[in-house]
Amino acid sequence: MSGTQQTAQTSTLYPVPAAFAQSAHIGSREAYDKLCQEAQHDHTAYWGRLAREFLSWHQPFTQTLDERQAPFYKWFEDGLLNASYNCLDRQIEAGLGDKTAIIFEADDGQVSHVSYKELLSRVSRLANALKAQGVKKGDRVVLYLPMSVEGVVAMQACARIGATHSVVFGGFSAQSLRDRIEDAGAVMVITADEQVRGGKTLPLKAIVDEALTLGGCDSIRQVIVFQRTGGKVAFQAGRDLWMHELTAAQSDVCAPEWVSAEHPLFLLYTSGSTGKPKGVQHSTGGYLLHAAVTMKWTFDYKPDDVFWCTADIGWVTGHTYVAYGPLANGGTQLVFEGVPTYPDAARFWRMIEAHKVSIFYTAPTAIRALIKAAESDAKVHPRNFDLSSLRLLGTVGEPINPAAWEWYHREIGGGKCPIVDTFWQTETGGHMITPLPGAHALTPGSCTLPFPGIDAAIVDETGKEVPWGQGGLLVVRKPWPSMIRTIWGDPERFQKSYYPPDFGGKYYLAGDGAIRDVNTGYFTITGRIDDVLNVSGHRMGTMEIESALVSHPLVAEAAVVGRPDDLTGEAICAFVVLKRPRPEGDEAKQIANELRNHVGQEIGPIAKPKDIRFGDNLPKTRSGKIMRRLLRVVAKGEDVTQDTSTLENPAILDQLSQRN
Ligand code: WTA
Repeated sequence: MSGTQQTAQTSTLYPVPAAFAQSAHIGSREAYDKLCQEAQHDHTAYWGRLAREFLSWHQPFTQTLDERQAPFYKWFEDGLLNASYNCLDRQIEAGLGDKTAIIFEADDGQVSHVSYKELLSRVSRLANALKAQGVKKGDRVVLYLPMSVEGVVAMQACARIGATHSVVFGGFSAQSLRDRIEDAGAVMVITADEQVRGGKTLPLKAIVDEALTLGGCDSIRQVIVFQRTGGKVAFQAGRDLWMHELTAAQSDVCAPEWVSAEHPLFLLYTSGSTGKPKGVQHSTGGYLLHAAVTMKWTFDYKPDDVFWCTADIGWVTGHTYVAYGPLANGGTQLVFEGVPTYPDAARFWRMIEAHKVSIFYTAPTAIRALIKAAESDAKVHPRNFDLSSLRLLGTVGEPINPAAWEWYHREIGGGKCPIVDTFWQTETGGHMITPLPGAHALTPGSCTLPFPGIDAAIVDETGKEVPWGQGGLLVVRKPWPSMIRTIWGDPERFQKSYYPPDFGGKYYLAGDGAIRDVNTGYFTITGRIDDVLNVSGHRMGTMEIESALVSHPLVAEAAVVGRPDDLTGEAICAFVVLKRPRPEGDEAKQIANELRNHVGQEIGPIAKPKDIRFGDNLPKTRSGKIMRRLLRVVAKGEDVTQDTSTLENPAILDQLSQRN
């Protein structure tokens, strides 16, 4: 529980700019407090009110919350709705048909605009094509797609016919893709021939082909291929179909399938503390409600904003704040195919200028990388660009260090844009603790206060709330509409991971440590309390990486820990014992590289360890338990000052301190 032992710190407060507060949806602390009081007074009625105001229901719900099978909570269950109807049709009915829904900028800089009308027509064609291929309500469809209009269209098309999508990030390996297809029991994969990133093409279809030969994917009937580059791909007759050929033959009208609010909108796999990724299951009604409300209040979204969330649709941020939230509000958003550093590290700033982006939402890791680039090359410094269209900035995915926050505020926001540091998780569906920019003065590095209706608290191991200034475990004491419903196929794991008996099975355990400021009560997230690492804002389970390492024929044993890294937040550090004598020098370097590539093959490039150290053994207790807390110290390059008396083989620490 290293993340929980922190002491209080109070830092500078940045007041809400008066002009911002004046026009904000939630424009004062009083307005925020009033919403919190409403929720506190009657939690269920509060969420029921928002569900009626923010969503269009085909059939209204009569019961807001059903707690009978807690923690398997049900929200708005007898209400019927369709997510795609709420994102598209109703915007058109409200007169927004010709409004731009998506501005797409490709890796090579080509730009296209898609209106709400056109988006609906493309979604409907694909939805009809999926139906024609036999995809039915409740079927799982795996999407392995690049950042593209087609990616959003495919998610919306699944939602339209009640199929449950499961997006797999395009950086995952064939093995990871296979595991997810098998676990979800998917009937179809939608992919592209290739993806383009930073001027390079990378295969997607070929990885799908490989995944499907690895076994366990018999449930897959078709592979639909979006032609992105026209690169040569293998086609298996009867199984593989071109998206453009399928959709050309379809009508652009497709009646939405009305589903219960509890119908699973999507599964999204994420890392936990055991080896196997968890298929986080989200609902349709509760999820969409939170996507819509947080989009409006956290981002203070207004009809003439141009919103840009840089997250890939393969992560939850790309679900809630690309595929659903902006569209559910009738917004205009930028969707970007490429990377922040191509053709140079001014790409983001050039795009903000060109598209007059007003709300910009990105990850601290990107900010840190761009600070470094701007400091070493004046040509890519943001001061060369007109960023005056910006009025609000946001961050997500990992803690932001105050220095990066200050730079973001000063250089990108021109000192006038509030920054919303949004804390949330794949499991929470949307923002949990976040500033409302018109209501909260800001402290760099703090996500400030819970979103109205989210009963977040910091407790000790017995579930008792700790005083402000004292670190503890972050929990959510009341259910909320967009919460994870279960882990696909493993309800026991859901209950064990998130509603452990420690707190009477009643509190949602986030898995993060947190602390509240002694003066303001503001929350700061202090890091994961489990074996989950956060590398560049991506969640990685240490056990997953360890399993990948030991699957290499040379490896006898491996332990993976995180160490702080200036750029990526955390870096993966692996301690490895080989089945042969410990290598040194060039040989050690060469084997380390081979192991790195092996992990890349097994999981994906994001999981490749930065450091690999070889030992004759690992530090273990007399009962054989690996002492990870010592490995964390060694990984940081610090001397071990902690008690090592329970360690069976103390000499091993010196050996593991040597870098390759
Ligand atoms: C971390 C991403 C500090 C946290 C939306 C959480 C953060 C995990 C923040 C979830 C933040 C996310 N400040 N830490 N603003 N946002 N985290 O599921 O450890 O990919 O548990 O969801 O990221 O990562 P996930």
